[in-house]
Amino acid sequence: DACADNLTSPPISIVPRPVQVVPGEGNFTFSARTLFSVENHEQAVIVRNFLNLLKKSSGITPQLAIGSSEKSHVCFTTDSSLKSEAYQLAVTPEQIQIKASDIKGFFYALQTIRLLLPSAVEGNRQVENIQWSIPAVTIQDEPRFGYRALMLDAARFFIPKENVLRIIDCMGMLKINTLHFHLTDDNGWRLEIKKYPRLTEVGAWRVNRMDVPFYFRRNAEPGEPTPIGGFYTQEDIKEMISYAADRQIEIIPEIDMPGHAEAALSAYPELGCFGLPVEIPQSGFTQNIFCAGKENTIAFLKNVLDEVCELFPSTYIHLGGDEALKGNWDKCPDCQQTIKKEKLKGSHDLQLWFSSQMADYLKAKGRKAIFWGDIVYEDGYPLPDNIVIQWWNWRGHKDLALKNAIRNGYPVICSTNCYMYLNFPVTPWKGYDKNRTFDLKDVYLHNPSYKTEENPLIIGMTCALWTDYGVTENMIDNRLFPRILAIAEQMWYKGELCSFDTFYNNVLQKKNWFNNQGFQFGPALK
Ligand code: ACM
Ligand code: ZN
Repeated sequence: DACADNLTSPPISIVPRPVQVVPGEGNFTFSARTLFSVENHEQAVIVRNFLNLLKKSSGITPQLAIGSSEKSHVCFTTDSSLKSEAYQLAVTPEQIQIKASDIKGFFYALQTIRLLLPSAVEGNRQVENIQWSIPAVTIQDEPRFGYRALMLDAARFFIPKENVLRIIDCMGMLKINTLHFHLTDDNGWRLEIKKYPRLTEVGAWRVNRMDVPFYFRRNAEPGEPTPIGGFYTQEDIKEMISYAADRQIEIIPEIDMPGHAEAALSAYPELGCFGLPVEIPQSGFTQNIFCAGKENTIAFLKNVLDEVCELFPSTYIHLGGDEALKGNWDKCPDCQQTIKKEKLKGSHDLQLWFSSQMADYLKAKGRKAIFWGDIVYEDGYPLPDNIVIQWWNWRGHKDLALKNAIRNGYPVICSTNCYMYLNFPVTPWKGYDKNRTFDLKDVYLHNPSYKTEENPLIIGMTCALWTDYGVTENMIDNRLFPRILAIAEQMWYKGELCSFDTFYNNVLQKKNWFNNQGFQFGPALK
């Protein structure tokens, strides 16, 4: 097929695929004499990270100069005619010319070079007798979507910071620019909030009834079952934000409300409709949600958002909004009174009113709110204009949220549970029966999030790694890889996708790069 034509010898395989690849003659070889020239300090930072990587495996330390480009071998030049994140790479045996209009584009050019170097560049040890070369080539590249995200669910099972950092580094290489960090859920609250210390003192730990003996434990009182869990301090979060920013990745926190709130309610039961004590559940979700009719609950959530916005500089803050069962709201005098006072149609409308209060609060801080698609299943109380809908429930409602969001003029992120939920296994496992499984070919050929009609309101795609049903940290790699490569290709590559066979060959060609970073691949095909 046409896609394979520019992959003839020497083989040039890059995932996600660039818009245009034209092979040249010969190779460019990095050595201690190689001189990089950049225009400014910002470019120097990303080059230093690249040189550190190269040094670890090759022992080579090329030179770096800021300013003069006369005699340099790898030359950065700003070209403001290119779009944000786009880059041009011209490699000859003598020189590498990199053009971009912003730091993101320069960063992605370096990620492409990473994938063109020998796979040993990703290893942690020095390797002798290798030519640190890349093939001569001319590449033009720019992304399909500006919003390309991976969601990590650190709430059901805590994911230690070091593992998050490792995944962030790999996201950069896959040209994924957003980490959607699911930090709160029924089963754990993972973010330190200084004003409400019980959120993590109490809400970050649950009794272990799931048989996960290797998992994170807190010291228990004698006779007490050992709790599992963990949380990120605000210092941890700052470190992750900075590490991600060096890789042109923004971290978007998700504070799920009004549903998926039982960990918060275990710490502060008065935030619920009836103030009853809550034990953090092992899994699942219930009608035990934040009360929308209590001023104290609304004030609490706004105070949490104050600290969240102070900590995270992201344009978007994710406010959840999924699977908020209304059983308690239907019976709660405070919720019912708010419905009356605000002249709302019922409990769904109350969620719209509640979501509007929160989105307005973020708007006053110059931020936008992302909500799961549930809030647009029915029209009602008007939402402000700073909201984005994340369409997820393909299995339950097909494209209802997508259609309704577009009808209302809301931007949409495509994130369908078929086939963007990477926690769904390749073969049945625990709560994932046969119709929740998918393989590399399924996502590459049949992903509803990829097959949407073009619409300027569609701003991007998010793949999700949930950790319910006991998807613990040690299983993450196998779920992510190799299927995340198909999704990275669909998010980034602007052209028509190639045949599956061509893509699969590219995945096999690149497997070692990810293995050398320490990522285990799961099965690709059933
Ligand atoms: C979701 O999967 N509950 C967004
Ligand atoms: Zn209530």
